[in-house]
Amino acid sequence: VTVIITIDGIAASGKSSVASRVASKLNIPYISSGYLYRAVTYLVYVSQIDPSDQEAIVAALHTHPLTLIPKPEENEVWQGEENYTPFLHTTEVDLTVSEIARHAAVRTWVTEQLKDLPPPFVAEGRDMGTAVFPHAHHKFYLTASVQVRAQRRAKERPEDLESIQAALEMRDREDRIQSKPAPDAVVIDTSDLTLDQVVEQILKGVQ
Ligand code: ADP
Ligand code: CDP
Repeated sequence: VTVIITIDGIAASGKSSVASRVASKLNIPYISSGYLYRAVTYLVYVSQIDPSDQEAIVAALHTHPLTLIPKPEENEVWQGEENYTPFLHTTEVDLTVSEIARHAAVRTWVTEQLKDLPPPFVAEGRDMGTAVFPHAHHKFYLTASVQVRAQRRAKERPEDLESIQAALEMRDREDRIQSKPAPDAVVIDTSDLTLDQVVEQILKGVQ
C-alpha cells in the first residue's frame, strides 16, 4: 500500500508509541516530526543561540544540517557525525521546543524535510494531517486528559508529577495554533485505552 497515515495530537497523548507500532504492523516506516523540532532546539542550545533569534536559527540549520533517519522502532536525528537522538527527550528541550516551533522559518524548514518523503509511511506530530500532508489517506488525532498524560510522562522524566503536568499545560497552550485537528481526522481519546487498544482502533480504520 502506498498510503500516508497521519497521527497528530497533543503532548504525551501517545503519538510516537502508537505511530511506531502501527507502522511496524503494516511493515512501513514511521516518521516523527517532533524529533526534528526537538533537534533544532538542541542545536540552538549547543550553539548558544538566542531562542528568539529566528535568523540565527535558520543560519545554523544551513551550517549544521540535521538529518532525520526514519527507523522502524525509533527515529534518529544526526547532525553531521553526531547522533543527537539521546539528547532530544530532556526537560531542557521540552521547555524551549514550543518557542522554537513557533518560528515560521523553522516550520517551513521542517515541512521541507518531510513533504517529499516517498510513501508509504506513518507520520506523527501536530500538523501532519493539516499543513504537511493534507492529502493523507488516513488521519488520526490523539488526545488524553492532562492528568493521564502527566502520569505517563512521569515514567520517562526525573521531575515530580506536578512540574511535569505544569510543563505539559504550558506546552498545550504554546502549541495550540499548530495543534488543531484536521477536519477529516478521526479523534481518539486515549485516556482510558491501552496502547494496544489505540493501535487496534487505527489499524481497523486503515484496512
Ligand atoms: P507522544 O509521542 O504523543 O508524546 P508517547 O508515545 O511518547 O506520546 O507516549 C508517552 C508515554 O505514554 C509513553 O511512555 C507511552 O508508552 C505511554 N502511552 C502512550 N499511549 C498510552 C496508552 N494508550 N496507554 C498507556 N500508556 C500509553
Ligand atoms: O509529544 P510531545 O509533545 O512530547 O513531543 P513531540 O511530538 O516530539 O513535539 C515536541 C514539540 O515540537 C511540540 O511541543 C511542538 O512545539 C513541536 N512540534 C510541532 O510544532 N509540530 C509538529 N508537527 C511536531 C512537533
